[in-house]
Amino acid sequence: MTPRILVVEDERAIQLALSGLLRRQGYEVEVAGSGDDALAALVDGAFDLVLTDLALGRGPDGMDVLRGAKERRPECAVVMITAHGSEAIAVEAMKAGAEDYVPKPFDNDEIRMVVQRALDRTRLERENRLLREQIQRQYGFENLIGAGPSMQQVFQTLQKVAETDLTVLVLGESGTGKELVAQALHNRSSRKDRPFVAVNCAAISRELVESELFGHEKGAFTGADARRVGRFEAADGGTIFLDEIGDMAPETQAKVLRVLQERSFERVGGTKPIAVDVRVVAATHRNLPREVAQNRFREDLYYRLKVVEIGLPPLRDRPEDVPALAQRFLEQVSERLGLEKKRLGDDSLARLARHGWPGNVRELHNVIERAAVLSAGATIEESDLNLGSDARGDASGPANIDGLVFSEAKKIAVEQFERAFLLQALRRTGGNISRAAESVGMVRQSLQQKIRELGLRSEDWGNES
Ligand SMILES: Nc1ncnc2c1ncn2[C@@H]1O[C@H](COP(=O)(O)OP(=O)(O)OP(=O)(O)O)[C@@H](O)[C@H]1O
Ligand SMILES: [Mg+2]
Repeated sequence: MTPRILVVEDERAIQLALSGLLRRQGYEVEVAGSGDDALAALVDGAFDLVLTDLALGRGPDGMDVLRGAKERRPECAVVMITAHGSEAIAVEAMKAGAEDYVPKPFDNDEIRMVVQRALDRTRLERENRLLREQIQRQYGFENLIGAGPSMQQVFQTLQKVAETDLTVLVLGESGTGKELVAQALHNRSSRKDRPFVAVNCAAISRELVESELFGHEKGAFTGADARRVGRFEAADGGTIFLDEIGDMAPETQAKVLRVLQERSFERVGGTKPIAVDVRVVAATHRNLPREVAQNRFREDLYYRLKVVEIGLPPLRDRPEDVPALAQRFLEQVSERLGLEKKRLGDDSLARLARHGWPGNVRELHNVIERAAVLSAGATIEESDLNLGSDARGDASGPANIDGLVFSEAKKIAVEQFERAFLLQALRRTGGNISRAAESVGMVRQSLQQKIRELGLRSEDWGNES
C-alpha cells in the first residue's frame, strides 16, 4: 500500500516544494496550512507519517501537531522540521514521540532519506506487532497458554463470549486453569477496569456465606457490629467469580439463584433490595450434572449458570501443551528469582510429556519451579524433575510395586492414593484444613496428622496462587 503522508507547513512555497518532492517519490500526500487544519486532518485520515514544521504561525504549533498525532494515531510516525539552532526543541520533540527531525535549511536528499527511514521503521514495528499478536492468538489467550486443538477451541469460545454479559460456567479438574479463564473473561470485557471479585465458595463457612456474598446490616446477628458490603455489591460494574460453586450449601444456592434471576438482593438483616450490575462466572471441579442427579446441586441454578459452559480438558489429555507451558513457567520463575538462564533437556521434555499430571497445570508449574531452583547446571535434567520412575508418577498410574512383598507394595500404593486424594481436597478448599477435612468426612486432627505423615507442604496444594 502506498504510504500516506501529511505535510504541515504554513509557508506556501515550502509547502509546495515538500509535497511535490514527496509525490515524485510515489507517496500519497495531503497538505495542511495550519496546526488546526493538521489536527482536523488527523481525525479524518489515516496517515503513515506526518512531516510538520515546528513554527506554524498562529494557533497550534508543530509540538501540538505531534502530540495530537500521537494521541489520535499512535502508529503514525512524525518528523519535525525545526529552525536552525533549535536543538533543544528537537530533543523535546523526540522525547514526545517524534521519529526524527530535520533542521532548516534542508535539502531534498535529506528529506527523502529521513522520511524513508521513518516509514521503514514504523512498518517494521507494525509487522512485528502483528506477528506477536498472531503468535499470541495462536498459542495463547491472555495468560492462558495452549497450543493444541482442545485449548484452541476454548480460546475461540472465550473470544466469542468475553465481551458479552453471558453467565459462564467453567468446568475442569483441579489445576486446569479455571481461575485463569475467569480472569481472561474479565480482562477481555468492557468491565476490565471495574472490579474482579473472586469468591471461594468452598472456603467460606456455611454460617457466614450469605453475609460474605450479600453483606449485612449492623446488628443483623450477634457480632455484626457494623454494616458490611458483600461481594456481589463489591463487584458492581465488574465480574464476580464464584469458585467451587459445586460446594455451595443448598440454602445459599437458592439465594444465588435469586440474584441471577433478579439481579438484586438484600443484605442479611436488611429489607431494601440492592440492584447490582455484575457478570457472573462460576467454576467447579465437580461433575455438576452428577451432583444435580444426586440432588446435591439445584437443577435450576445449574441451568442458570451454564448459559455458556467451558470445559477445560485435563493436562494428560493434551500433552502437546506441556512443552510450551513448561518453557513459559521456566522463563517466569527464572525472571522472578533472577536465576541464570536454564533450558529443559530433551530427556526432561520427554519425561514431562509422559507424566500423568494428576494435579494438572498447577503440578507442572510446581515441578518446573522446583527443578529450576534445585538443578545444578544450565540444563534441567530428567532427574531434576523428581517425577520418579516412569511407572510410578505422582498419582498418575499405579506405583511401581512389581517384585515387592505384599505388605510393602500395599503401603506404597495406599500412601500414593492418600496423597492424591487429600491434596485434591486441600486444593479444592484453597488449603482450608477444616473445610477439607469436613468435605472428605475426616476430623481436622486426623487430616493434620496425615499431612505431617505424608510430608505434604502448602506448595503441594498450590497455596502460592
Ligand atoms: N493454560 C494455562 N496457561 C498458563 N498457566 C496455566 C494454565 N492453566 C493453569 N495455569 C496455571 O496453573 C495454576 C492453576 O491454575 P488455576 O488456579 O486457574 O486452576 P483451577 O482450575 O482454578 O484449579 P483449582 O480447581 O484447584 O482451583 C496457576 O498457577 C495458573 O497460572
Ligand atoms: Mg481455582
